[in-house]
Amino acid sequence: MDPSRVMRVEKAGMAESMQEDLESLARGGFRCRLCHVTVANKPSLDDHLRGKKHQRLESLRSVRQAQELRSVFVSGFSKGTPASELSDYFQAYGEVINVVMDKDKAPQGVYAIVELQDKEVLEKVLAQPHHSLGGQKLRVKPREKKDFKYTQPRKQGSAKREQLSPKKLAQELCQADDVDAQMSLLVQQFEFSEGERRLRDLLVTLFQEVFLEFFPGSAILPFGSSVNGFDVSGCDLDLFLDLEKTKKFQASTKSPAEPLAEDVASPEPDSHSEDSILSDIDLASATTPEVLELVATVLQKCVPGVHHVQVVPNARRPVVKFCHKESGLRGDISIDNKLALRNTRFLQLCTETDERVRPLVYAVRHWAKQQALAGNPFGGGPLLNNYALTLLVLFFLQTRNPPVLPTVARLKELTENEEQTVVDGWDCSFPKDLTRLEPSSNTENLCTLLAEFFHVFGDYNFASCMISLREGQPLPLPGVLESTVGSKLKLGPFNLQDPFELSHNVAANVNEKTALRFQRCCQAAAKYCRSLQYQRKSSKGKIWGLVRLFQPGTAEAETPAATGLVISLPLTLASLPAQTRKQLSQAGNMHQCWFQKVCSSIAFVLKDVLRCDCLEAQEGSEREGEAVTECKQREQQTEADAEQPSSAGHKRSLDEEEADLSSPAPKRLRTDTLSPEGESMTWNCAMWRRVWLGRRRVRRQLRGPQPNSQCAAGSLELEAKVSEAISQQEGEARPTDPLLQFTVHARTGADSSGEQGMRISLCFEPAPEQAAAFQEFFHFLQGFLPRAVEQHVVSAT
Ligand code: UTP
Repeated sequence: MDPSRVMRVEKAGMAESMQEDLESLARGGFRCRLCHVTVANKPSLDDHLRGKKHQRLESLRSVRQAQELRSVFVSGFSKGTPASELSDYFQAYGEVINVVMDKDKAPQGVYAIVELQDKEVLEKVLAQPHHSLGGQKLRVKPREKKDFKYTQPRKQGSAKREQLSPKKLAQELCQADDVDAQMSLLVQQFEFSEGERRLRDLLVTLFQEVFLEFFPGSAILPFGSSVNGFDVSGCDLDLFLDLEKTKKFQASTKSPAEPLAEDVASPEPDSHSEDSILSDIDLASATTPEVLELVATVLQKCVPGVHHVQVVPNARRPVVKFCHKESGLRGDISIDNKLALRNTRFLQLCTETDERVRPLVYAVRHWAKQQALAGNPFGGGPLLNNYALTLLVLFFLQTRNPPVLPTVARLKELTENEEQTVVDGWDCSFPKDLTRLEPSSNTENLCTLLAEFFHVFGDYNFASCMISLREGQPLPLPGVLESTVGSKLKLGPFNLQDPFELSHNVAANVNEKTALRFQRCCQAAAKYCRSLQYQRKSSKGKIWGLVRLFQPGTAEAETPAATGLVISLPLTLASLPAQTRKQLSQAGNMHQCWFQKVCSSIAFVLKDVLRCDCLEAQEGSEREGEAVTECKQREQQTEADAEQPSSAGHKRSLDEEEADLSSPAPKRLRTDTLSPEGESMTWNCAMWRRVWLGRRRVRRQLRGPQPNSQCAAGSLELEAKVSEAISQQEGEARPTDPLLQFTVHARTGADSSGEQGMRISLCFEPAPEQAAAFQEFFHFLQGFLPRAVEQHVVSAT
């Protein structure tokens, strides 16, 4: 082709894609869809289009699209085939640039993406009707065309961003200039790296290709945090398997007179595989669990690298859970969740509407996770889920004056007739893009918005109303009940209405305790946000801004009832039988001896009764040292808080507050009550099974109608059997990773009554990302551990 013509064609193509990238907004503004950037006028738009970001993304898009256009998707070769063999095979048609394949040795089917030198080579490959390698027939298809999606900028030079340790994250945040900069940094640290996004895209493509083979016309559509703009490295991959077209395909194959719809016929169902699987089931009449079983079989047997496949049929939205072995990525596939696709698009639209939405949501989510208020990582549980928490932030932004975000009702008004959307009977209409949306005239910065979020919800009565994103205001409960009569609306201590499925309270799982803690934590956070320590960078290198806000348990430690993650064992020498005391006093160093005895009982209860892996940590390690100090501080803080009257209501100056906060615990501590050099011991622990759940039921089953005298009620032997039974119920094989990892520090302190009153406290430190999950186990330990340890100490002396 004439080179000048190529240039003209390329330029024309660029102009076309530029047109597609740009949207005119109300009041002369523009939005660049490629970069998710909104500008106020034409000169700013020109600056943006000439700028580095736009140029970089444009060239990245061209590279990706070009790669896609010259790649083929190959399957059918035998397991274990090396990438080099595939490369050699396709070299016969022209140069091969790259072969990407899943290395996992799956029992059936292996897939690869082969990137060829150019379109000409690709056409040669596709023109060949039959391919075979090592005696196996290969299936070769062009790659799925996907829209290029903007990836947020990362730190230079690292395709795969390393997740920072909490300590490093705190250091980085402290170096930012102000709270707004801290919040933007937070987003950069948590969102997907380029590598992670690519891996997810590749996995979705892989799932799509495999499912297409078995369910012709089906589509795999990601939703939730992977794609809604609130991605956090390592978050779940939520997928929706849309079988609508497959159902049509199945119906049409059953009645040959009926012509195939064009879009269903296109996948060219491939010989035996889907025939066999679709002949097993009638998709139109099968129940959801039946279809999910089939999906699980396909996942288990035919998607390389996928393991731990499990159908969860009784969830509100039944799913198949899976894990991708190599990346450790966990995900869910649902087949009946179109509303989630729509609310995912709604969340995306909110992030595109105002650039403050993402940083604010990331900050609130991280704060809530650290305070163990949100997350429910194992599903179920009484905490807010991330979707609910995100909606709460969006509602808050709708209620600012002037509003940052429009209400859902306002969005509906802006929707054109052809964009009206109803899903499962619910009106899910909102404009497909931002063209008709007025930019917000609210100018509050992130620092203020976050502080106001805590202020607003610290005083909120969640139980007495229904938070409505549709109306952008709380609705009185009687009215809500009336308008949803006959539905399964569940009201509770926290009522937050789904913006589309109006009979769904997305916080219905939250219990009273969590609702109360949420409010208390908001109050404490609001109080902290009034201090200079939040508002200004410390000139003395002290922690400031978001860093202190994110400290686990900070908020609770300020309420008198809170105890942090410390369990105090009510074991004093004085409480022991006289005989035991005598034995100990004969053993020389009574303190030490007593401490060791209790520690071996603690280890026994954790290991032998609760089946927890428990390794004594090396003494003197830096981490242990830090943890023990923190443990002492928490303990002392708890005591001090309990003994000093609460300062709530007493107005103090910002300077006074900063002075207190910048030198946290020691100033307020009663150091005289603790032994300066107590004994201490540390264990590193891992829990593999949820032995804290359903113990009462299992205990009843084990004891039977006639209690067994060998295994008396409350005995440690019975408790060990309960743990064993629960572990067995959870499955034969141990999971690949422990459910919980934590450190336990035991140390002594003597109160004013001297040695006789010596007591031992245990400070628990969960892995940072498990703070929320740990809470449930910790509550169980609070009741169980003191009694069990005491029982063992007494029986062993
Ligand atoms: P999650 O609560 O898991 O939210 O719900 P998330 O944003 O994906 O966060 P991670 O995965 O915990 O980091 C996943 C998706 O399920 C739908 C929403 O689309 C949500 O984004 N969902 C969840 C509902 O539609 N309703 C609900 O009540 C909960």
